[in-house]
Amino acid sequence: MTTLVTGGAGYVGSHTVVALCATGREVVILDDFSNAKHGVVDALRALTRTQLDVVEADAADRVAIDQICRSRNIDSIIHFAAHKSVPESILEPLRYYRNNLASTLTLAEAALERGIARFVLSSSAVVYGKAAELPVTETSPLAPESPYGATKQMCERILADASADSRLQSVLLRYFNPVGAHPSGDIGEIPLGEPQNLVPVVMEVALGTRSKLQIFGDDYNTPDGTTIRDYIHVMDLAEGHVAALEANLGSHSSRAFNLGTGVGTSVHEVVRAASEVTQREIPFDVVGRRPGDLSESWADCRRAATELGWSAQRELKQMLGDHWRFLRRQSRRVP
Ligand SMILES: NC(=O)c1ccc[n+]([C@@H]2O[C@H](COP(=O)([O-])OP(=O)(O)OC[C@H]3O[C@@H](n4cnc5c(N)ncnc54)[C@H](O)[C@@H]3O)[C@@H](O)[C@H]2O)c1
Repeated sequence: MTTLVTGGAGYVGSHTVVALCATGREVVILDDFSNAKHGVVDALRALTRTQLDVVEADAADRVAIDQICRSRNIDSIIHFAAHKSVPESILEPLRYYRNNLASTLTLAEAALERGIARFVLSSSAVVYGKAAELPVTETSPLAPESPYGATKQMCERILADASADSRLQSVLLRYFNPVGAHPSGDIGEIPLGEPQNLVPVVMEVALGTRSKLQIFGDDYNTPDGTTIRDYIHVMDLAEGHVAALEANLGSHSSRAFNLGTGVGTSVHEVVRAASEVTQREIPFDVVGRRPGDLSESWADCRRAATELGWSAQRELKQMLGDHWRFLRRQSRRVP
């Protein structure tokens, strides 16, 4: 039995492929490489010691999906393939709706028609928008504030409706803030454009490829004034997908799970920990708040612990240390 992993050459997808292969599962990656480098596939083949099956195609291409399902005995789908930038989605909303919705619809249709029993969707904490209460639970109201967030909420709804009318089990994984890299340093996050998340930018400053970090506001109502997020190691996240795939939640079911650590960490705390881990100074300037940034967000992950038997195991310094190892491997500029 084989799992189709769309977006499997991307950041979270590639780490999940490693976790899946470690359990002995067969995997087929489908990726259009719009946001991934082909070199990731070589790294994955070396890490997993398998001749990974990789198809270069659009996840909304029904002919390609049917061909893969027919020829590879696909019994489950993990769907990562999507555009994922909040600011970009505000500038180009229709490109986001087209890519994220068309791929999910196509895969859900194929799953129903071909009797595929399990579907795991990459969703995001952005579906909650500004949560009224912390920690955020799966029953918190959904109020996404960007086109990207809206696409994730719609994809969740598509799968919930598809599952209600079939034997499909869909698991909707709402990630908080994935960071880190595989401990080998062989795969990690390679932002193809300008990185927008805190940790990749902090690491560029530590590496010397960027002169300073900009901290967007230190006047939030938090203990040190900077925003607070729930950072999760990408390998913990990857293992969460394995747990989601293996969980028996029953047919006709669609269930959402928060994947985070349940711990909130401020920007200043990240900067201090990164400086310790890398043994480098991280100079920063405090600038104005960035529109749309939430003051604080962290997850209640008890549902995943109880129903999936999963909880995050790795702490912040391990996330930063693994990210740093990967970056140093990537760059010849650092001794
Ligand atoms: N990284 C995060 O901070 C984060 C947080 C919450 C949710 N997510 C979600 O997790 C998933 C994976 O995120 P990531 O950080 O690994 O992103 P990524 O961009 O690294 O990976 C996505 C992969 O999908 C591919 N892709 C995009 N559209 C495609 C299409 N139509 N057909 C085939 N391949 C396509 C890209 O080439 C890329 O390899 C996304 O759905 C994202 O929305 C990510």
